[in-house]
Amino acid sequence: MNIGLIGSGGREHAICKKIFESKLTNQIICIPGNAGTSKLAKNVEVDILDFNKILKVVNLYKIDLVIVGPEEPLVKGLVDFLKKKKIRVFGPNKYAAKLEGSKAFMKKMCAQYKIPTARFKICTKLYHVENFIKNCHFPIVVKADGLAAGKGVTICKSKKQVINDSNKIFSGKFKSSKKVVLEEFLVGEEASYFLIVDGKNFKFFGTAQDHKRVYPNDKGPNTGGMGAFSPAPVIDSFIEKKIIEKIVKPTLLALKKRKKSYNGFLYVGLMIKNNEPYLIEYNVRMGDPECQVILPRLKTDLVKIINNASTNKLKNTKIEWENKKSMTIVLCSKGYPGKYKKNIRIKNLDKIRLSKKDFIFHAGTKLKDRELFSTGGRVLNISSLGSNFVKIRRKIIFIIKKINWKNGFFRKDIGWKVIKKNANY
Ligand code: AMP
Ligand code: GLY
Repeated sequence: MNIGLIGSGGREHAICKKIFESKLTNQIICIPGNAGTSKLAKNVEVDILDFNKILKVVNLYKIDLVIVGPEEPLVKGLVDFLKKKKIRVFGPNKYAAKLEGSKAFMKKMCAQYKIPTARFKICTKLYHVENFIKNCHFPIVVKADGLAAGKGVTICKSKKQVINDSNKIFSGKFKSSKKVVLEEFLVGEEASYFLIVDGKNFKFFGTAQDHKRVYPNDKGPNTGGMGAFSPAPVIDSFIEKKIIEKIVKPTLLALKKRKKSYNGFLYVGLMIKNNEPYLIEYNVRMGDPECQVILPRLKTDLVKIINNASTNKLKNTKIEWENKKSMTIVLCSKGYPGKYKKNIRIKNLDKIRLSKKDFIFHAGTKLKDRELFSTGGRVLNISSLGSNFVKIRRKIIFIIKKINWKNGFFRKDIGWKVIKKNANY
C-alpha cells in the first residue's frame, strides 16, 4: 500500500517508523514530515490545512490510505473532505472530532450521559462566570472552548484571575471560540488511556503518563509535553473497567446514535481520584509524546491494525504488546515554552549508535544541505524500552549527553512520581 501520513511531530515520526516496518507498505508520503521521517518516507511540503493541495498529493502518489496525526485538520474536517472524494482515510469525522475541538460539546455530552467529569459551567457572558464562582471553591479551572494549541487552560487561585482570563477569551484571545468553560479543580493522579476505534468496535491501545510542566517536580508553565512513560501503573484492571463502562462506552454510543460514529485513535485524558476515573479531556488522535512511548511497545503490524480499523474489521484484529516499559524524554530548545532560537545546528546525531531498544524520534527538525537543524521548541524525543523505569531513564539521559546539543535542555525527572512510589517500577 501507499500510505499518506499527515503531520510533522515526534508522534508522526514514531507512526512513520511503524509504517516503514510493515510488510504491507510500499511507499510512505509524509505531509509535510520532518528530518526524521525523510529517512523513511518522501516528505512533501504542503500546509496540513490546505485540503485541496493534500488531495492533489494523494492523487499524484496514488495513496491508498491517509493517516491523520494532529488534531487541527481533523477538527477542520479533513476526513469528511477526503471521504467525499472517495479517498480512504483513518481518523474521526468533523462532528466526532468536536470531542477535542469543543470543550463545551464534550462537557454537554458528559452531562447528558452522566459521564464522570469535573463540575462545570459553559459561559458566554461575564455574569455566568460570576454566578459559578459563588458556588465553587478555588482554584477554578478556566478553559477556552476551542483548540488553543495547549495554551487555553489556566488554573486560577482568585476571583480576579478567573474574571480576567475569562474576559480575554470572551474578547477573542483564541480565534477558535469565544466561549469559556469553567471547571472545579480535581485533585488526583493524571493518566491517559488510549483506544483504537472503528465504526463498530474498539480495542485497547495503551496507557501513558505525560509531563506537561516545563520544570522538575511538575513546576512552571505548561508545554506540549516534556516526556512520558508507558504503561501508567495507576490504571489497573479495576479502574480500566470503570473507564470503559462509565466513560468510553456512553461516548461512543452517543456518537453512534447521532449517526456520526467514531473512527480513529481516541485519547482519554483522566484524573484518577479515590480509585474513580474522571474525564478531563478527549483528544481525537494519539498523544504527543505519548505515541513515542506506546508505539515502541506494539508488536502487531500497525498498518494491518489501521487498515482493519478503517474498514470496520477491528473486532477480529488481535493487538499484541511487548511486556516491557517505555519512556521518552523531550530535548527542547533553550527558552521553550517561551521564546527560543531556531535554526540551530545539531551535530552529533548520525554518530550515535543505538541499540534496538532505543529510538530517537525527530519533532522540530529539518535538513539543510544534509545537515540537521532545529526548527521548533520540542526538537527530539529520545525513547527507550526496558524492564525498569529508573534504568530506562538513565539510558536515555546517557544518550542525550552523547548528543551534547548545547542549545538544548530536558527534564531529568520524567516518571518521578511512580519511581518515588516504587523504585522497582
Ligand atoms: P485540558 O486541555 O482540558 O486537558 O487541560 C490541560 C491540563 O490542565 C490537564 O492536563 C490538567 O493537568 C489540567 N486540568 C484541566 N482540567 C482540570 C481540572 N478540572 N482539575 C484539575 N486539573 C485540570
Ligand atoms: N501530550 C498531550 C497531548 O498530546 O495533547
